[in-house]
Amino acid sequence: MNEQLLQPTAKPARTVVPIVPASGSAHGYVPGQPDELLTRIGPGQPCGELLRRYWQPVAASAAVTRRPQLIKVLGEELVLFRTGNGQVGLLYPRCMHRGASLYYGKVGADSIACCYHGWRFDTEGHCLGQPCEPDNGRFRDKVRQPWYPTEERYGLVFAYLGPLDKKPVLPRYDILEDLAPGEFHETSVGGWGATRDETFAATPHVPYSWLQMNDNIMDPFHVQVLHSTFSVVQFAEEFAVMPSVEFTRTPNGSQAVAKRVLDDTEFSRITSYFFPNVMSIPGTDVSDGRANRISWVVPVDDTHYVQVLVARTATAGVFGTMRWKGKAWGEMTREELQDSPNDYEAQASAGVLSLHSEEHLGTSDRGIVMMRRMLKEQIAVVAEGGDPLGTSFDPGQPVISVPAGHFFRPLDKA
Ligand code: FES
Ligand SMILES: [Fe+2]
Repeated sequence: MNEQLLQPTAKPARTVVPIVPASGSAHGYVPGQPDELLTRIGPGQPCGELLRRYWQPVAASAAVTRRPQLIKVLGEELVLFRTGNGQVGLLYPRCMHRGASLYYGKVGADSIACCYHGWRFDTEGHCLGQPCEPDNGRFRDKVRQPWYPTEERYGLVFAYLGPLDKKPVLPRYDILEDLAPGEFHETSVGGWGATRDETFAATPHVPYSWLQMNDNIMDPFHVQVLHSTFSVVQFAEEFAVMPSVEFTRTPNGSQAVAKRVLDDTEFSRITSYFFPNVMSIPGTDVSDGRANRISWVVPVDDTHYVQVLVARTATAGVFGTMRWKGKAWGEMTREELQDSPNDYEAQASAGVLSLHSEEHLGTSDRGIVMMRRMLKEQIAVVAEGGDPLGTSFDPGQPVISVPAGHFFRPLDKA
């Protein structure tokens, strides 16, 4: 992979405005188009290169074993495995000899061996042996299997797909640190509406653009409609009250504070967004206190993403399945989904790539506007050779404080 070929240009995408006949008739209407700048995430794409400057979770640690697996992340197919001595490898899958896939490789103590002629590669792509060649390969030091760095934390495997000289420190979040006795990290890799692809069995994929889910982070108003009053109460009755919301930029992203007055109490729900695709959204009950979870919206390719979550908990099953009339989402009929739609129905029905130039954003979309503006600003920073928001190269960087949570305050009745 030639780094020269991967320099993003951040040219503003041309926006096609939909054409609406003066009469308002659907006859003659010409649809709009997706925001190309924010939805194209492959190598060399401006947003793809921005997202590559951050560590992305790619699998649960427990799922990474000596059996090689294919994964897809940011439009790239890669092979993921754990060596016998515990190191995680993430390699370009086509063997540097003659292209057989390392998916069929055999993992040993320190390397993966290709099934075809046995070339062995360690987790940084060094070729350790070429058994069909004299002296186990006289030019083996001259070949390298393309590789990516990985790190494990909070029960997840993180990968860094950007330029090696720009690799930031993997961030820590205070709500996931210093577990109390009996607590552990519970993880979930998938997301609402995810399906398992036979080829990429390790990573379920949700079949629409990452941006549609990322938008949802700073959209506290839909909780009042979609989840509380449109059909049944999907979360908690308190959310049926329309909130007043304050969106603010923070040093590493933004936050939404949704306030509701419940009798003589003010209920504040704080959602934290850490640029570019990390969030802390409090759980769906209204228990008092700080949030216990962080999640990432990781693009699989332009039209799929996977949501990766981790929570601190003392009880297993924190990401329980939501049920409607006793049925899990996958068991509901089409009519039942119409009667009680959820995030998947709302977001997937906008299309695998929503037509952003058709949107009419209102005051309730201020958080989304802020977030998309930050993405465009930071795409330009990367294109100009800078380091984007929130990246740190200091191993001693402070743990990130997460303000998210549910907080109650008695109202002064005087
Ligand atoms: S193709 Fe991999 S060792 Fe020959
Ligand atoms: Fe939602």
